[in-house]
Amino acid sequence: MKRIGILTGGGDSPGLNAAIRGATLTAIRKYGMEVIGLIDGFNALFEPPGSSAFMKLSEQEVQDIHAYGGTILGTANKGNPFEMILRDASGRPLRDSDGKVQVRDRSAEAAQRLADMGIQALLCIGGDGTLTLARDMFERHGVPVVGVPKTIDFDLAATEATFGFKTAVQVASDALDRLRTTADSHDRVLILEVMGRYAGWIALHAGIAGGAHAILLPEMPYSAKTVWKRITTRFRRSRKFSLVVISEGARPVDGGYAVAETREHPGGHVVLGGAGARLRHEIESLYAAEADDITKRGGYPPEAPEVRVVVLGHIQRGGTPLAEDRIVAAACGSFAVDLAAQKKFGSVAAWANDGPVEVRLADALAPHFVEPSTTPLVQSARSLGISFGEVGDEVEP
Ligand code: F6P
Repeated sequence: MKRIGILTGGGDSPGLNAAIRGATLTAIRKYGMEVIGLIDGFNALFEPPGSSAFMKLSEQEVQDIHAYGGTILGTANKGNPFEMILRDASGRPLRDSDGKVQVRDRSAEAAQRLADMGIQALLCIGGDGTLTLARDMFERHGVPVVGVPKTIDFDLAATEATFGFKTAVQVASDALDRLRTTADSHDRVLILEVMGRYAGWIALHAGIAGGAHAILLPEMPYSAKTVWKRITTRFRRSRKFSLVVISEGARPVDGGYAVAETREHPGGHVVLGGAGARLRHEIESLYAAEADDITKRGGYPPEAPEVRVVVLGHIQRGGTPLAEDRIVAAACGSFAVDLAAQKKFGSVAAWANDGPVEVRLADALAPHFVEPSTTPLVQSARSLGISFGEVGDEVEP
């Protein structure tokens, strides 16, 4: 094999550069291959030949990049060759009579482009979205792909580690340490909203590491009354501050996801956001109802709780990757090139038993969520007295 391509797709994740470096060094040093980086994921395949959408990766290009966050190849959430958005001359999306954005399947064109460029294997480093595209390019067009899973969300079942997750957890845990001291000083309820989409792994791990009093996860719809009870019980015991970690995908038992934005892309990708603000409103409303009741009975309600929300957002994805994420990334990137050299296409370089392993792409897409009754860390958190805001879970340890 003479030439391979590498792309990174979907949201960036700490460790991507370590994976690119691991793959490039292995390809050059071990196999004498030429490596072409595709800029901004699959989008590169629709740019003219010779454009800056392609970057030859030599040892020099990847020198020292392992310690940096982001990806030197760029990435895109909107680069789906099966649903490319049609645009007018000024770049605006074309719409049909119902106002729906028009798309065209250009995947065959993308496959042909790779063949024309003499790319004999394409390493696709990405999460569920990018790996799904890689699988479809492999199954429908025979594109010789090898996947490398990455995501801060840790929501893929076929791998024991997705690089970026550990760094995101560390950032969230550090944030809790900082919030604790100020919450304590001001007797405040501080709500930390973390990423993770529909998986609660970041919240669960960071909440335990950072000593949260309540953790709210997408997999365990919560009752605001239970959270309120946890806060007021602490207050009565003279612990006047509380820390609550809430996943961006957490929802109340009687409500849906907090959606900040619905993107125009035909995939209907929604941007989650606002779960923390909603919880703040719920807590304040519960206090107001209680205060009203006390006043009507001629009593004096306690002072209103001061609730603040911190949305950690993309801070979780930026900056220096932890050593553990770099190790997984470097080893999986390198192993993906081994798989390519052996023509094991349609595979993924996953992680198991402290090392990279081969998994079939079709199996690599199974999701991985917190299971309230079987995930050991849920039990550990309960034993530590952390509330998940469950209905009826109102007894303070
Ligand atoms: O999948 C990674 C992730 O960071 C999610 O946790 C989050 O919901 C999403 O990406 C945010 O994506 P974007 O940066 O495109 O808004």
